[in-house]
Amino acid sequence: MKGIILAGGHATRLRPITKVTSKQLLPVYNKPMIYYPLETLLAGGIKDILIIVAPENAGDFLKLLGSGKEFGAKFTYEIQDTPRGLADAFIVGADFIGDDNVTMILGDNIFEDDFESTIKNFKSGGHVFAKKVHDPERFGVVKFDDKMNAVQIEEKPKTYLSDYAITGLYIYDNRVIEAAKQVKPSARGEIEITELHNWYLKKGELKVDTVKGEWFDAGTFESLLQASNFIAGKSK
Ligand code: G1P
Repeated sequence: MKGIILAGGHATRLRPITKVTSKQLLPVYNKPMIYYPLETLLAGGIKDILIIVAPENAGDFLKLLGSGKEFGAKFTYEIQDTPRGLADAFIVGADFIGDDNVTMILGDNIFEDDFESTIKNFKSGGHVFAKKVHDPERFGVVKFDDKMNAVQIEEKPKTYLSDYAITGLYIYDNRVIEAAKQVKPSARGEIEITELHNWYLKKGELKVDTVKGEWFDAGTFESLLQASNFIAGKSK
């Protein structure tokens, strides 16, 4: 199993604090944001990790994280020239992934849960994770049937679908590279990761579990502050 941390993008929602640095380098209480998704992958037993960064701040990521030796892992870096959407990570990362399966985590996603056994027991298909939120319109949203089987997934639905957001941790088998290459840009000009979930869902090969602990997408001022407060509270 290979790992990818997607830490590209311009984070315009966090201007002016992201004018001279990357969102994923901002502090979340006592650590740079990217440490948290990195720790999630490392705790999952993943040691071979690709970090996808925007060109502007690539040097700062390298300075912060280095070769990976300090973390008992091996880090590889790729530059994403333009933020083309989350599914692009599997195209940018295709050579790195090779013939393996891959777990991708977003560089601004902070999870309390431990995914070690899930990652270790993964065999094939897709496996994603949902969390009940009060603002589902901000996210990819999944609708479950009464047996908690996923029946529909939509990116930022305009009309209410459900309260379950798809979080930024995705485990896919190697076919995700081919699936990503087939995705056409959405109305917002991005190749959406939701299309990949649907690619597996249509084949009946997508598993959607719920996240039990806290989860933050720290990409807004409010959620960044909430994430910092949560980590501070846990560190006491
Ligand atoms: C992205 C995905 C969305 C997912 C979210 C999780 O949204 O497109 O499906 O629910 O991450 O953090 P974005 O942050 O790009 O708006």
